[in-house]
Amino acid sequence: MLTNKTIAFIGGGNMAQALLKGLLDFGVVANKIKICEPNSQKQSQLSQQYGVTVSANSAAVVTGADVVLLAVKPGIVPLVLQEIASLLDKETLVISIAAGVSMAAMAQNLSSGQPIVRVMPNTPALIGAGVSVIFAKQDLPKPKLELARQIMSAVGDVDEVVDEGLLDGVTALSGSGPAYIYMVAEALSDGGVSCGLPRPLADKLAVKTLIGAARLIDESGEHPAVLKNQVTSPGGTTIAAVAQLERSGLRSALIDGVNAAWQRSVELSKK
Ligand SMILES: NC(=O)c1ccc[n+]([C@@H]2O[C@H](COP(=O)([O-])OP(=O)(O)OC[C@H]3O[C@@H](n4cnc5c(N)ncnc54)[C@H](OP(=O)(O)O)[C@@H]3O)[C@@H](O)[C@H]2O)c1
Repeated sequence: MLTNKTIAFIGGGNMAQALLKGLLDFGVVANKIKICEPNSQKQSQLSQQYGVTVSANSAAVVTGADVVLLAVKPGIVPLVLQEIASLLDKETLVISIAAGVSMAAMAQNLSSGQPIVRVMPNTPALIGAGVSVIFAKQDLPKPKLELARQIMSAVGDVDEVVDEGLLDGVTALSGSGPAYIYMVAEALSDGGVSCGLPRPLADKLAVKTLIGAARLIDESGEHPAVLKNQVTSPGGTTIAAVAQLERSGLRSALIDGVNAAWQRSVELSKK
């Protein structure tokens, strides 16, 4: 189903390229994908690197597309929709990955009945390890929802919420989350260097530890607290670190970080 659909991206930046690469790796052929991107440097990079058609003209890109994927900054979404609304077939599925642009705000700028889906992905989609959460109205035809699922499944795990308001929490946790983990990786490596490890070794140990621990949570199905207890022997080194991390507020720092992102997402949704 997915491989015979034509997909038009509006915006060819970071997230669009993560999704694009995932779709090509999945088996969607390059001549089924078109991208509208105004930046001439990005235009050449996109066509050279991925072999897809790139244009600055949105009409040339969206006309005849089965799916239009909006991958521009949230503030530009209404302008883009006003520009393309009359060019879309009534069956064209519009997927937006823009944070904080509500379904109602999009519908205002589209023909009535245009199928719309909101998705919050994250950048590990670039290596097929993303996680996306979909929101669609209950009256969206099932094949359209399935198509959105297939597109996002090409680049990682997919979940769905039935309450649009939850997308702000998703943005705060998994959408913005990779940045938090990069900070953790950097800090762990700094910790290793402060203990005398050479930087390349510390960098490697930090990232491999994060990957290994994350895979163990995922694949064992155990709660993280159980796995933590398994590595904290009485009077040992790990419990000494755990106690210090609690005193330094590691958990509350992460909870507060996610909460700050959530508040910002809610604020943007109201604009
Ligand atoms: N990055 C993430 O981790 C992430 C995660 C989840 C969701 N998102 C969402 O994904 C969307 C894109 O984010 P991003 O990080 O990929 O941003 P980005 O790298 O800045 O990409 C946006 C692209 O759109 C182009 N553009 C600007 N105006 C346009 C127009 N009128 N028509 C077509 N293209 C236009 C920009 O070109 P110029 O560079 O010339 O302006 C840029 O190449 C955002 O709405 C964001 O909320 C991002």
